Amino acid sequence: MDVAIVAESQTPDEPTRDIYFETKRRGLSVRYIPIQRLSVRIADGNAVVETRGGRVDASVVVIRGIGYVIDSSTFMRRVSILKILEREGTVTINPVDALLSCRNKLETIYLLSKAGVPVPPTAVTEDLYYGYITAKDMGKVVLKPIQGSRGFGAMMFEDPEQAFQVMRTLLITRNPLYIQKYVEKPNRDIRIIVVDGRPIGCMYRVSTTWKTNIAQGAVGVPCKITPELEEIAVKATNAIGLIYSGVDIGEGREGYVVFEVNASPDWRGFKQATGVNPAVHLVDYIQRILKK
Ligand SMILES: Nc1ncnc2c1ncn2[C@@H]1O[C@H](COP(=O)(O)OP(=O)(O)O)[C@@H](O)[C@H]1O
Ligand SMILES: [Mg+2]
Repeated sequence: MDVAIVAESQTPDEPTRDIYFETKRRGLSVRYIPIQRLSVRIADGNAVVETRGGRVDASVVVIRGIGYVIDSSTFMRRVSILKILEREGTVTINPVDALLSCRNKLETIYLLSKAGVPVPPTAVTEDLYYGYITAKDMGKVVLKPIQGSRGFGAMMFEDPEQAFQVMRTLLITRNPLYIQKYVEKPNRDIRIIVVDGRPIGCMYRVSTTWKTNIAQGAVGVPCKITPELEEIAVKATNAIGLIYSGVDIGEGREGYVVFEVNASPDWRGFKQATGVNPAVHLVDYIQRILKK
């Protein structure tokens, strides 16, 4: 087997299907495996990752998802299996450590900031009073789930008292507080997809609300990429260690800021806006790996 694609859903999403069919089109062997079906057997000094059907012998495993509504033990099991695959010689795309850094918005913002990528001021805490003071200091703030995507669960507050009440509720339900200064921006942001160190396309996501996710109703519109945007997107991708990524960039009053980097970006809106299918570039990369 050349390629396996792993995600949680029993029915693969559009990017997964794009990668699957692009791989097949090039005459490579490929299969989709729900992550729940990945098991590991450790015996006689060997570790074998397998399904009911036998060993997972793919040279490259594309990880499109680990799961979202899962408990910490299931999460640990899935991460360990993927790491075992990696350590036993399979090439994982994206690499597991990079995937984990992206899943954790605190880790993402730290790595971006250390790499010199502009990011909004951000505080992360489990201390309600610290959160309250921070919200007061920052003025308008966004509270985001530390693990989250598609804009789900992100909330904006202009009033620190309202923020306080929600932060208290979040803490009672064991959600740490990720508090970010709101960046004043036009009714859009910029999404760039990077594959193997190269931006392959750029779009505005134009929205009627402050959240510019396509999943929140934003519409993709082509955007001309500039050398500055290109540098930010590539630097952000490399800071996390991703082979391919979707970078979210805001046009703040004082310049660009990166909101986050996505390790398994959805690309339906991107394909429509740019006419570029990221799967083609990703499978180019996979083919280069397989030839090595
Ligand atoms: N600090 C912020 N200031 C202004 N807008 C923001 C801020 N953070 C996020 N947004 C908006 O919300 C969207 C979703 O936030 P993001 O950090 O990308 O999380 P998600 O993983 O949910 O996509 C961004 O694309 C952006 O439009
Ligand atoms: Mg985003």
